[in-house]
Amino acid sequence: MNSIEIQKNVFSTGYTDWDIRDFHGYTTKRGSSYNSYLIKDDKVALIDTVKEPYANNLLRNIKERVELTKVDYVVCNHAEPDHSGALPEVLKICKNATLICNAKCKSTLSMHYDTSSWTFEVVDEKTELSLGKNTLKFINTPMAHWPESMFTYIPEKKLLFSMDVFGQHYATSRPFDYKVDPEAIEELKTYYANIIMPYPTQVTKILEKVATFDIEMIAPSHGIIWKENISKIIQAYKDWAICKSEPKLLIFYDTMWKSTAMMANAIYEGAQKSGIMIKKFDLKNTNITIITEEIIDAATVAVGSPTLNKELMPKLAESLTYVRGLLPKENNKTALAFGSYGWGKKGAQHQVHEYLKSMGCKMLFEEPIQSQYVPTKEILDECRKAGEKLADIAKT
Ligand code: FEO
Repeated sequence: MNSIEIQKNVFSTGYTDWDIRDFHGYTTKRGSSYNSYLIKDDKVALIDTVKEPYANNLLRNIKERVELTKVDYVVCNHAEPDHSGALPEVLKICKNATLICNAKCKSTLSMHYDTSSWTFEVVDEKTELSLGKNTLKFINTPMAHWPESMFTYIPEKKLLFSMDVFGQHYATSRPFDYKVDPEAIEELKTYYANIIMPYPTQVTKILEKVATFDIEMIAPSHGIIWKENISKIIQAYKDWAICKSEPKLLIFYDTMWKSTAMMANAIYEGAQKSGIMIKKFDLKNTNITIITEEIIDAATVAVGSPTLNKELMPKLAESLTYVRGLLPKENNKTALAFGSYGWGKKGAQHQVHEYLKSMGCKMLFEEPIQSQYVPTKEILDECRKAGEKLADIAKT
């Protein structure tokens, strides 16, 4: 059997995607899963579906537990295609099912699919949909991370279906977290940084709503189901939503002939004496997913690029564009731009400087640290001193 009973008469029926490594630009090093849940009661409800190519896997898993024509409701918590892609096939086969969603989701789905033959029941936060022994309640969670997003809650089971929130791109054979589950916690953070991070105010409001519910199990749409670490993950979300920083410096850069790398190393050396956590990444060997995860709790950031045809190095431009889209403006980070140039008056470091300012970072200096060609001893000393300053700020 592929479906797993996670509580009495509640089954996990989704698809584990061991092979995915790129989720719209997010590097998913541990794969992912598209979670779907079946509740058997007097009425039968399915919570969310899966990506379109895995519709038949989902239908097979449902059929292990109930005849497909016996599905009464399909709840759509989120219209993004990794959860709604299988809806057309599911609603065609589960022909007696009514689609349950909020008004925003109904209109969003109509912009993705031909919904003309679907039977909808639009719900809101006052709706209580009885399945028999269990009741479905709905909590709107706009911008976590799409406007139509919502949670579904079963009070009788103290079970929250939290859609992408508290999710992780994490393929695993086991359905639940352990007391100590470093891989799951790591993927939770990566997921928050790369998917949920842009809307911290909304996340805080959602956490306030969640605090009013009695919850013993959180079943997200990706990754494992939380039982052991519920208070820990809620606290982590609270910290990330306020951009709570650690005494940590993040350095990332690209380099052509090692001049910018020499500057990055000098910044590192300057900061190292302080004993704070320093993370340093050459973008040739890392990816934007890791940079985004690392920036969440870094109090200070140093970003370097050489100048290539008057512009940033492409990988750095990609990273800055990606991070700018995700990092909240109220991030309280102090930043430094640095790097090398050959000729011309303004190197690409000025573009890095402007990028960091536009992200809401407070700049350490009014100008970037620049080196014409190979950095001199004086410039490397300047970088070391800047590293010291960034470490001092990170410590406070
Ligand atoms: Fe997992 Fe926003 O979709």
